[in-house]
Amino acid sequence: MSNVKSKGTALITGASSGIGAGYAQRLARRGHNLILVARDVARLNELAGRLRAAHGVAVLVLPADLTVEAGLAIVEQRLENDPSIRLLVNNAGVAAFGDLSAMQPEVIGTLIQLNVLAAARLAAAAARAFAPRGEGAIINLSSVLALVTERFNPVYNASKAFVLSLTQSMQRELGPHGVYVQAVLPGATRTEIWSRAGADISTLPPEMVMGVDELVDAALAGFDRHEAVTIPSLPEAADFAAYEQARAALGPNLSRDHAAARYAVELAA
Ligand SMILES: NC(=O)c1ccc[n+]([C@@H]2O[C@H](COP(=O)([O-])OP(=O)(O)OC[C@H]3O[C@@H](n4cnc5c(N)ncnc54)[C@H](OP(=O)(O)O)[C@@H]3O)[C@@H](O)[C@H]2O)c1
Repeated sequence: MSNVKSKGTALITGASSGIGAGYAQRLARRGHNLILVARDVARLNELAGRLRAAHGVAVLVLPADLTVEAGLAIVEQRLENDPSIRLLVNNAGVAAFGDLSAMQPEVIGTLIQLNVLAAARLAAAAARAFAPRGEGAIINLSSVLALVTERFNPVYNASKAFVLSLTQSMQRELGPHGVYVQAVLPGATRTEIWSRAGADISTLPPEMVMGVDELVDAALAGFDRHEAVTIPSLPEAADFAAYEQARAALGPNLSRDHAAARYAVELAA
């Protein structure tokens, strides 16, 4: 893009509504030029016009359906070939509600294509572009449901656990190359994702539901501190640190040459 400011360009997927539109507004206010990706061109154009007028940044609309190969490839190529891009907000996603057994195959497929396949391919494209330059950042939108198996939809929760695991592995790979990768784990946030999936967010207790602006501001505060994992709702950061310490403590014993004593099988005489 021609109007490159010192902050560089941020490419935001799922920018036409909700959290992605919130990032677009906040990042424009911070002086980033933007590339906005989603399917709804009219909404993207309307947002782009508002942000150009309010913040004087360059905003390009890049329409793409990330569940189809052609759309995904367009965004991958943009990430790899536009050196002005220094930030990927890997945000587009869909939700699902109900039991696994009640999900139609195409609903499972679309969710995995967007939340898992597109998220991983775009993260990989950004990694290919940023690592050789020794700079850049990737924000991956996971969810607190990455940590929850007790309720909500199994495929959605697993897709968000994938994003968390992907992010933590990317931190290991890309940190030494100067690329910062953040996982953001929102709790329930007041966006269209609920109604799009046929759910009613008003059935949740209001004290469990955050607004988009507060969520994005908190996530960007975590970004500014280079947090690895940002959970805006969680009052005590030490609680997640303890969870991570417990996970790390398993490490030395997860792959051994013999089964644990409790699984020892008595050999027949
Ligand atoms: N809201 C919550 O409670 C919550 C909680 C935790 C995590 N999250 C995560 O936050 C992210 C943003 O969700 P949101 O709550 O802001 O939902 P949202 O308002 O429904 O926004 C979803 C965005 O993704 C885009 N999108 C959907 N299908 C797409 C496709 N096939 N190709 C390209 N773009 C597509 C939508 O735009 P178009 O329809 O124009 O394509 C829209 O811009 C998601 O990854 C979600 O899992 C949300």
